[in-house]
Amino acid sequence: MNIQAVEPLKPFDFVLFGGTGDLSMRKLLPALYFRHCSGQLPEQGRIIATARAQMSKEEFKEMLNTSSRIHIDENDFSASQWSSFLERIEYLAFDATVQDEYQQLQAMLAGFEDRIRVFYLSTAPAIFMPICDGLRACGLVTEHSRVALEKPLGRDLPTAEAINDQLASVFKEEQIFRIDHYLGKETVQNLMALRFGNVLFEPLWRRERISDVQITIAEKLGVEGRGGFYDQTGALRDMVQNHLLQLLVILAMEPPVSDAPDAVRDEKIKVLRALKPLIGKEAIENTVRGQYKAGAYAEGPVPGYLENEDIPDDSMTETYVALRAEIGSWRWEGIPFYLRTGKRLTDKVTEIVLNFRKVPHTIYDTADGFSLPNQLIIRLQPEESIKLRIYVKAWGDDMHLQPVHLDLDFNDVFKKRQMIAYERLLLDIIRGNPTLFMRRDEVAAAWEWIDPIRQAWDDYAQPPKQYTAGTWGPSKANVLISQDELSWNEE
Ligand code: BG6
Repeated sequence: MNIQAVEPLKPFDFVLFGGTGDLSMRKLLPALYFRHCSGQLPEQGRIIATARAQMSKEEFKEMLNTSSRIHIDENDFSASQWSSFLERIEYLAFDATVQDEYQQLQAMLAGFEDRIRVFYLSTAPAIFMPICDGLRACGLVTEHSRVALEKPLGRDLPTAEAINDQLASVFKEEQIFRIDHYLGKETVQNLMALRFGNVLFEPLWRRERISDVQITIAEKLGVEGRGGFYDQTGALRDMVQNHLLQLLVILAMEPPVSDAPDAVRDEKIKVLRALKPLIGKEAIENTVRGQYKAGAYAEGPVPGYLENEDIPDDSMTETYVALRAEIGSWRWEGIPFYLRTGKRLTDKVTEIVLNFRKVPHTIYDTADGFSLPNQLIIRLQPEESIKLRIYVKAWGDDMHLQPVHLDLDFNDVFKKRQMIAYERLLLDIIRGNPTLFMRRDEVAAAWEWIDPIRQAWDDYAQPPKQYTAGTWGPSKANVLISQDELSWNEE
C-alpha cells in the first residue's frame, strides 16, 4: 500500500453519531483507517461510534470487520494495521434524542477536555438539534470542539436557516463544518491548482476567450434503497444545490488573495450571489427535469424510478436536472453555464467542459478538417484527467488539420492510491481548517438561487420528462442546449 506520510494530528476524540449507518461503514471509518495507516493519527486518537443499536464494542467491531471487506480494496488492506486501527474504536449504544442517555458519553469523554473533540452527525437532519442540545446540556461542548454535518442542510432557505440558527446557539461558526464531499475530491482541489498555480489559463479564463461551460455529474446508480429520502428530495436538492453549484463557483470565482479559508470562501460566495435568478417562466424555460423509466445496461435490465417499492406511483420527483445558468460579472457576462445531473444515465461521469471561442479569422476551412474550437475537459470521475483539444497538421502532403488531445491522466502521473474525499475532509475537521466546508452564508446563497426554480416547477406543475434508464436523459435537455447552437459533450 502506498500512502503518503503526512503531518500528525493533535490528540482527539472523534464521536461518530450514526456509527452503524451506511455512510460510516462505507466511507467514514475506511477514511479514518487509511489515515491511521499513514501514521497520521496520534496514539491518543479515539473513535467513539454511537448508535441506537444495542450491541457490545466487540459486536460493533465484528460488524466493521465484515463491512471492511466490502468497502476497503484488498490491495489497500493490511491485517496488522487493521487490528491496530480497531484498538482506537469504542462503541456506545444510546438514543441520542434522550438527554439522560448522554451520561455514558459524558463518562467516556471525562478527563479529556483538552483534546480536540469532533462530533460528527451522520444522522437524519431531524435529530441534529436534539444531539446539539444533549451535548450542550451535559457540558460536552468545549472550546476545542467541532461539529460536522452531512447535507442536506434543510429543504429550502427557511429550513436551512432554522438548522443554522439552532447550530449557532450551541457552536460558534468556526466550530461548524458543513460537508459537501465533492470539495474533498482531489480533482476539485486540482481545479484550483490548475487555475491559481499556473499562469497559462488565467488570461483565457473569461468571456472573451470561453464561449460556454458544461458541468455534468452523471450516475449509473438509481436510488439504491434510499427511495424514501430521495423522493422527498429530488436531484435539484440532492445534487444541484450543493455539488454542482460548488463545482461551478470554484470554476468561476476570482483568484483569492490567499488560500486562507475565508479568502477562498469570500470569493466563492460572490459567484453564488452573481448567479442570475431563474424565476417563474424563466426558470421553466431554462431548466429541464426528468425521471427515469425502466431500461437496460450491458449488465442487465433495471426498473424505472416509479417501480421502486418505496416510491409513490404518482411521484413527480425529478431524478434528472439540466439547466442553463448565467453569472452576471465582468468575467462571465453572457456566457452560458450548462449544468446537468441524473441517476441511471449512460455512465458514471463527472466532468467540466470549457469550450473556447473559435479563431477570429481562419485561413483553414472546414473541408480541411478544421471545425471545432479548442476544448478543455477536466474529468473528476471515473478517472481523474485533464484533456486539452488542439489542432495539429496531420502528417502528409496535404494541409489537413486534425484535432488531437493533450491528455493528462493523474493515475499515470502519481501512480498511487488516491485519497478518498472523506480522508481529506475528516483531517481538515480534526485540524480545524474550514476552507473546504460551506460557510453559513454560502449555504443560504445557494438555497436563495435554488428555491425559485423549485417554486416555478411547483407553480407550473408539469410532470418531469421521462427518459429511459441507460440513456443520457430526456431529449428536452438537447433542445435546451441547442438554443445556443451547442450540444452536450457525450464522448
Ligand atoms: C450524494 C448524493 O451527495 O452524492 C447521492 O446524495 C449521490 O444521491 C452521491 O449518489 C454521488 O457522489 P459521488 O461521489 O459518487 O459522485
